[in-house]
Amino acid sequence: MTYRGPKGTYDVYPGGREPHERPELWRWVEGVAADAFRRYGYTEVRTPIFEEAELFVRSVGEASDIVRKEMFVFEDKGERELALRPEGTAGVVRAYVEHNLFRAAQPIKLFYRGPMFRHERQQKGRYRQHTQIGAEVLGSADPLVDVEVIHLLYAIHQAIGVRDEVVYLNNLGDLETRRRYVPELRAFLQANRSDLDPDSVARLETNPLRTFDSKDRDTQAVLREAPSLHDFLSRDAAGHFATVTAGLEALDVPYEVDERLVRGLDYYTLTVFEAKSAALGAQDTVGGGGRYNGLVSELGGPDLPGIGFGSGIERMLLAATAPEEGSNLQVFIVTLSDEARVPAMRLAGALRESGVACDLDYGGRGAKAQFRQADRSGASCTVVIGDDELSEGVVKLRDMSSGDEVSVPAEDAAREVVRLLDR
Ligand code: HAM
Repeated sequence: MTYRGPKGTYDVYPGGREPHERPELWRWVEGVAADAFRRYGYTEVRTPIFEEAELFVRSVGEASDIVRKEMFVFEDKGERELALRPEGTAGVVRAYVEHNLFRAAQPIKLFYRGPMFRHERQQKGRYRQHTQIGAEVLGSADPLVDVEVIHLLYAIHQAIGVRDEVVYLNNLGDLETRRRYVPELRAFLQANRSDLDPDSVARLETNPLRTFDSKDRDTQAVLREAPSLHDFLSRDAAGHFATVTAGLEALDVPYEVDERLVRGLDYYTLTVFEAKSAALGAQDTVGGGGRYNGLVSELGGPDLPGIGFGSGIERMLLAATAPEEGSNLQVFIVTLSDEARVPAMRLAGALRESGVACDLDYGGRGAKAQFRQADRSGASCTVVIGDDELSEGVVKLRDMSSGDEVSVPAEDAAREVVRLLDR
């Protein structure tokens, strides 16, 4: 009996074929993101990968695709209904309220990284377990925070070389605006019901805004005549948006306003955005997010605003010009006799303790095979220990780029290797 990973999942392993299957690329992206979060002043938050299912129903929205069809829901032994998290925002806001973080100086700027779960149809760039890096800023309504969050997302993408990226931007207005707009939109769509695709008809009552996501040609033709949300925006909402676009221009973030951009999660207010890469196929959204000014109070906290983004590491890697795979091994130790193996192990221990990446043969291979292994490993220095070296109390160091060899006293070996690597 053999097993395969569950549908919609993938493994990260040495020599992985796709960019998101290669461990060294994950480490690289995570390092780039961690450095950006540090420079922008964000602190890490970690929340569980499962929560009460109700938390997501309340925040992401009952009528959203995520809640209707994509959540992995299960009951625990106490008959509590739990769900694997489909996204990160709900858990972070829950933790912000639960731990009274709103009492500290605001805003609180948080980042996270971890797996999310959605029962979607698998295709390139879409998985049932994917990993997001995300940021959430809680407790400030300042439009310049929107600018910072979008700039941070864009900067991370730039640092890993995401190709041909544009940030699409929209303003959904505040909840009051939407309360006035949605009935107008619904009435208009009702009047044109016969030209809409079945999914859009089904959404008429629950979530007519999502009609803008429809790919159906006839539905799109109807929508061209639809009332525009932007005509319903309050002065405050329009002013907020103007500051966001001015900020993005000042920071040279390439953006386009897309009045039809609506997101798949219901908690958004005012600014929403999606960063898309022309280098990707159907799943071209590398990251997205927006403001959620009603969510903290919806989840039992005070009436405080928030904004954030989530970006899938898999899609970032698929859209990036990945660096060539470089070896990070620095030293390989070749042993020419059985007696040399324990001293080699001791030298490897000393090198590893002093921060040098070092390896040796565990396959009982002959000298020739070990030298080949040393070559292939990409190490810049090879240490050779055989019977001659043991009896003389030395080891041989070979500089792999020049081929030069020197003998050094065994007790100085670790120091000499470090010196050679520093040259
Ligand atoms: P989202 O747009 O649903 O937003 O997901 C964010 C990103 O996660 C997407 O742009 C994509 O890169 C990645 N992603 C989502 N689903 C999949 C999947 N099935 N396979 C691969 N990648 C995927 C959110 O989740 C919000 N929590 C973002 C946010 C944070 N809004 C405010 N704060």
